[in-house]
Amino acid sequence: MTNIIAPQIPELCLVIPVLNERANIAPLVGLIDGVLVGIAWEVIFVDDDSRDGTRTAIADIAAQHPNVRLLHRIGRRGLASAFVEGAQASLAPLIGVMDGDLQHDERLLPQMVEALRSGDYDIAMGSRHVAGGGLGEWDKTRAGMSDIATRLSRAVLKTPVSDPMSGFFMIRRPVFEQAVRGLSAIGFKILLDIIASLPTPPRIKELPYVFRSRVAGESKLDAGVLRDFALLLIDKLIGHIVPVRFVMFAFVGALGIAAHLLVLRIGLTLGHLGFAEAQLSATGVAILGNFLLNNIFTFGDRRLKGWRFVGGLATFSLICAVGAVGNLGVASFLFGAQHSSWWFAGLIGAAMSLVWNYAVSSVITWRRR
Ligand code: GDD
Ligand code: MN
Repeated sequence: MTNIIAPQIPELCLVIPVLNERANIAPLVGLIDGVLVGIAWEVIFVDDDSRDGTRTAIADIAAQHPNVRLLHRIGRRGLASAFVEGAQASLAPLIGVMDGDLQHDERLLPQMVEALRSGDYDIAMGSRHVAGGGLGEWDKTRAGMSDIATRLSRAVLKTPVSDPMSGFFMIRRPVFEQAVRGLSAIGFKILLDIIASLPTPPRIKELPYVFRSRVAGESKLDAGVLRDFALLLIDKLIGHIVPVRFVMFAFVGALGIAAHLLVLRIGLTLGHLGFAEAQLSATGVAILGNFLLNNIFTFGDRRLKGWRFVGGLATFSLICAVGAVGNLGVASFLFGAQHSSWWFAGLIGAAMSLVWNYAVSSVITWRRR
């Protein structure tokens, strides 16, 4: 026996990813507290280093609600990984996630708990696309984008889900555990990620809600979110075969070859260059183009700027040059000594340099800091 008054493990842990949501914290906790009656709950705010005083607001509200906790992450971004880490910081048998900007209707929370308690469902989710649900005041562009994304995501799901883009749901911990090691945890769309990572289709309860308008703070939807969504889909489709970053790198490389041939052709015809000069210009354009695209897309999360950009271009060019020498060596060996056909020798040489360029540039040019 100990004489410490131990707090019980709550039944529900609600993970709330937040980034610059200062003004929304206190009202949100008030609303949650109001609806979760008769349920032992805790809230974990996962904050990715907000600069607007969000953590102070969380500390203030936690002083009155000791079941409000904070996970402060530095140098990290993304709703999906925020959810995973928040969930893993808790032992509650039910794990929920909702936005921290009051756009999700908290009145669904008790219904979600009830659905999961019944044992008939693995996941209970808020849906904007069942009768009674809606997008609220979304403009045509946003609604259209969401519609396209929803259709695309059906390609990676074996289960029919009306609103796979929803970021508002609750899951039983054992089900979460079944998915967690297979998660991509890239970007925003954690529900899609979880459903696609489960070995068997989950039983899903869909509850309608209308997406509310944002009152305070700003949306974080930007080009990076779209890029992450594309990466998530690719990873879910072929990530078990090759890493998604390598696919991007190879894709950019293929564009580079196209650009190379184009510049070579222009140099030879319009530019009246000799073959060596034209080939040199084409190589330069291809390397520079590849560097720029890889810096924006493939390694967008480690993007180089300022002097690092200059240094990165130098190491990348050098790595590619070494890759080209290796390519030439392997291809010549296969073609000459092994009497392989020209296309086989060429292909293996090119594949060699692709793998080399990727492996070395990811640890030197775009190394993790
Ligand atoms: N920790 C963390 N890190 N939180 C983040 C990050 C991040 O990088 N980016 C956004 N958030 C938080 C915001 O502070 C907010 O609480 C919540 O995640 C949603 O971000 P919004 O920027 O408001 O998203 P939205 O309204 O455009 O998107 C919503 O719509 C989707 C449905 O299409 C989100 O609700 C998604 O969850 C939902 O799937
Ligand atoms: Mn929002």
